[in-house]
Amino acid sequence: MIIVTGANGKLGRAVVEQLLMRIPAEEIGVSVRDPNQAQELRERGVRVRRGDYDDAESLHHAFEGASQVFIVSSGIMGEADIPHGIQQHQTAIDTAKRAGVTRVLYTSHIGSSPTSHFAPMIHHAATEKLLKASGMAFTSLRNGYYAASALLLIGGAIKTGELIAPEDGPVAWTAHSDLAEAAAAIISEPKLDGITPNLTGSEAIDMEGIASIASEVMGRTIRRIVVPDEEFRDRMMAQGVPEASINMRMGMFLASRQGDFAQVDPSLTDLIGRPPKSFREVLKESISQQQR
Ligand SMILES: NC(=O)c1ccc[n+]([C@@H]2O[C@H](COP(=O)([O-])OP(=O)(O)OC[C@H]3O[C@@H](n4cnc5c(N)ncnc54)[C@H](OP(=O)(O)O)[C@@H]3O)[C@@H](O)[C@H]2O)c1
Repeated sequence: MIIVTGANGKLGRAVVEQLLMRIPAEEIGVSVRDPNQAQELRERGVRVRRGDYDDAESLHHAFEGASQVFIVSSGIMGEADIPHGIQQHQTAIDTAKRAGVTRVLYTSHIGSSPTSHFAPMIHHAATEKLLKASGMAFTSLRNGYYAASALLLIGGAIKTGELIAPEDGPVAWTAHSDLAEAAAAIISEPKLDGITPNLTGSEAIDMEGIASIASEVMGRTIRRIVVPDEEFRDRMMAQGVPEASINMRMGMFLASRQGDFAQVDPSLTDLIGRPPKSFREVLKESISQQQR
């Protein structure tokens, strides 16, 4: 049986949908914090059990009978959350081992690094270390930066016509749907042991490029305005954004500025058998969904 964690979230649910196209529902299980939200999957024959990274026994029950477990990274809100985040992943990995799982897949990131300016990358690097130490076979999916995150960054700019942010760098924005398809391909036909090549979209685009694409798609000008780091911090503080969140956003800009998310790699294309969705396509899809 294949267990997918985080299946009430965007990536986990998309992976389950992709697996349902490849293998019988009875061979798929989900480990979710709220089973009620996965009722629809249960009705389609997927095993639904509660599993929380903060509760090893719940995970043990949710992982029962699993050959492979897909661990969706828990996500952190700031640097201070890293130790807890690492503990959560340690619990998930240890529990998978205790449950007799033969392979763990984990959603890492192309910027994974113990010295990154961007806190989640430190969390991913520490988790990859845990995976290596686990003695289990594993695949750490070095996912590209979600294009959905870029949509969040430009949300306000689409309304105001001004994309105000500090200096940044190019990012190989990647669609959830492509990453989910690649993950399902790797799960159903085991390949790519260890740390994968970068799984990214086919072009790296900076904020200037994003503003230009958004202008074209929206049919009105969105200006990219570069502000000094301190001014950006002050602006966010004035908007009431919590300090941890400001530090996270600044960390993202600092890391992108030094090219941490810029590498483009053909591996995602190879896995899904076609070019990945471009940022422009993701933006258009999102706009048409909002208009429905
Ligand atoms: N590649 C990138 O650029 C990028 C960008 C942002 C985030 N990420 C990472 O990718 C992950 C998946 O992305 P997504 O878009 O699917 O995010 P999402 O929709 O927020 O889903 C995250 C999932 O993680 C689960 N989770 C959180 N804490 C947990 C815990 N203690 N125990 C068990 N499950 C827990 C959540 O469960 P509930 O449904 O119960 O809340 C949720 O289903 C994120 O969690 C984050 O670590 C990557």
